[in-house]
Amino acid sequence: MINPVIRPRRLRTTPALRRLASETRLHPSELVLPMFVREGTGAAVPIQSMPGVVQHTVDSARRAVARAAEAGIGGIMLFGVPDLRDAVGTGATDPDGILNVATRALVAEVGDALVVQTDLCLDEFTDHGHCGVLSVDGTVDNDTTLERYREMALVQAASGSQLLGLSGMMDGQVAAVREALDQSGYVDTAVLAYSAKYASAFYGPFRDAVESTLVGDRRSYQLDPANRREGVREALLDISEGADIVMVKPAGSYLDVLADVSAVSDIPVWAYQVSGEYAMIEAAAAHGWIDRRRAIEESVLSIRRAGADAVLTYWAVELADWLTERP
Ligand code: PBG
Repeated sequence: MINPVIRPRRLRTTPALRRLASETRLHPSELVLPMFVREGTGAAVPIQSMPGVVQHTVDSARRAVARAAEAGIGGIMLFGVPDLRDAVGTGATDPDGILNVATRALVAEVGDALVVQTDLCLDEFTDHGHCGVLSVDGTVDNDTTLERYREMALVQAASGSQLLGLSGMMDGQVAAVREALDQSGYVDTAVLAYSAKYASAFYGPFRDAVESTLVGDRRSYQLDPANRREGVREALLDISEGADIVMVKPAGSYLDVLADVSAVSDIPVWAYQVSGEYAMIEAAAAHGWIDRRRAIEESVLSIRRAGADAVLTYWAVELADWLTERP
């Protein structure tokens, strides 16, 4: 009879021991809820490919954000869904554009109970659906886009956004926005850099959510899913340009990049569990093929374990409620 001396199972024998030996914990304050707010009145509109997620009206967003604050989550990330789009994304820099209107309303609603953050990118506002403005040859013009991002940053900061989510993947966007903010006195408005943002199939449902008009793909500016080192390089660049937080996105299929970035970063590292990750678990659970709650908890826990200090997830509020349930 073989008799092992080393028995790692010892620490797994009871729930109390497992709890004590747990290396990673989830807490509501490190969860951020992405939210969509649509222009116009009417009612909230369900998003087909994201069961349980809606395009909010400003009013329904107000109620949702009050609820999110009650659940104790750390913040919300706002995306606007405008009525009209044009070549340069005018709606993004219009103080009365939906994203800026919603920001003011939600900041007024929750005050300091959670952090109101805004997506700083043009794709929801352009008629071609790209994250920047186009050159005559149809490619995304990096440096002209930076000018638009600087304008967006000032309008978002003036609307009360405390943390700007730079998700457009233009070169030099962090430095450009930081300089614009500082020159206008918004020295305390922070920058969340979507540093390692990959050209991913997992954004599919999000594009339904914002009614994206994109034809083609974003491979000329988002990272190649094959590249691991490049994710680290982008994060280091953004740190040197003055980012306050760096992010890896998507999360689940890029845990290696997340672990790499978290090993070298001296600022917080976040991850975005994107729409496709959400949709896959919801769809499988709806079929009864996986245990919904366990899959959600495990997926977010794994993102934390790999190195994320905070996680953007569409389950933020529901998960926070579970975490604060009394046993
Ligand atoms: C771009 C942006 C995207 C997402 C967040 N910001 C879409 C894209 O790059 O195509 C995707 C988020 C998700 O899939 O949940 N503004």
